[in-house]
Amino acid sequence: MNDVTGTKAKRLIRALNGEATDRAPIWLMRQAGRYLPEYRKVRAEAGSFLDLCYTPALAEEVTLQPIRRYGFDASILFSDILVVPDALGQKVAFREGEGPVLDPITRAEQIDELDGSAVVERLQPVYETVRRLKASLPTETALIGFAGAPWTVATYMVGGRGSADQAAAKLWAYRAPDEFQKLIDLLVGATISHLVAQVEAGAEVIQIFDTWAGSLPEAQFRRFSIEPTRAIVKALRARFPDLPVIGFPRGAGALAIDYTRETGISGVSLDTGVSVGWAREALQPLACLQGNLDPLLLVAGGDEMRRAVGNILGTLEGGPFIFNLGHGIVPQTPPDHVAELVETVRGWKG
Ligand code: CP3
Repeated sequence: MNDVTGTKAKRLIRALNGEATDRAPIWLMRQAGRYLPEYRKVRAEAGSFLDLCYTPALAEEVTLQPIRRYGFDASILFSDILVVPDALGQKVAFREGEGPVLDPITRAEQIDELDGSAVVERLQPVYETVRRLKASLPTETALIGFAGAPWTVATYMVGGRGSADQAAAKLWAYRAPDEFQKLIDLLVGATISHLVAQVEAGAEVIQIFDTWAGSLPEAQFRRFSIEPTRAIVKALRARFPDLPVIGFPRGAGALAIDYTRETGISGVSLDTGVSVGWAREALQPLACLQGNLDPLLLVAGGDEMRRAVGNILGTLEGGPFIFNLGHGIVPQTPPDHVAELVETVRGWKG
């Protein structure tokens, strides 16, 4: 990593290295997005969502928007987890009001047709965005790169869209586990290449989003969530021994303990449903914690939000901790409430 001293001094990185910091660093999942009028403006100019992701000057601009407004301790690259299937050659489109739509992969032969070797070449605009951000971000702001975990990305590739139950991917995994494993293995390789390229371009932290981890029963959770994530973290650390990696095993419940231990991540992002008291006892001795305000409490704002923030900070700030939401910001969030949240977290005195 370039600029190692600068990187190590950042509050977010210190927390991920196991330090209880003077105050909790804060950033929010989906901090760049439709709740911001300045995002909607650039988004409209860009044309499609993927055009926005693949135009470095515009992706850089929308990444910086929430940093300018709120001065978060970290900036997350503006991109999407579905650029990986797009770069593998599976057509991805984002439709207004509908979310992502892909031509679903339903047969083993279609897995063989995907081209893992072209990913880094096709995603060059994303790495160019990272390089620009590295140069334009304030020195105290950490730069987070990311990817979806293989399981979560596979649920979209197989289902062809988001679904409430991830049934298409689960049924393939149950009926023909070794066939499904080939898709997971392909994604492990593509994800490693994509993340290595982000770190080489200047990302200082990596977050792996396993949004649908919680839909898997224990045996499949171990095989399709823990194991691929472990392989990715191992490959990253072979190249970058000090790289902080955050995992987000959304909905994993008590399996978050084994997920944290076995994957070797430095930080675990807690979803809204996790008890912070439990997490302090069971998880904080193993890793830095991140989370977990309900995104809808941010929509509501006011006293109820401030009480919840106080409860999270009061429970977790004694150990390494990063303030965040339990899932991404939703579009109806009033920007003023985000400012109120940042003030509450920064001004909090236990
Ligand atoms: O600010 C940031 O957090 C960085 C950018 C980011 C986006 N998506 C931008 C985005 C990140 C880190 C993601 C991750 C992502 N993408 C996940 C994992 C995290 C999670 O929220 O569970 C998933 C599952 C996706 C796939 C995805 N992308 C879906 C299901 C959708 C549609 C739902 C929606 O909110 O519209 C997207 C689109 C998307 N990705 C938008 C943004 C800002 C909105 C699209 C738009 O502006 O039109």
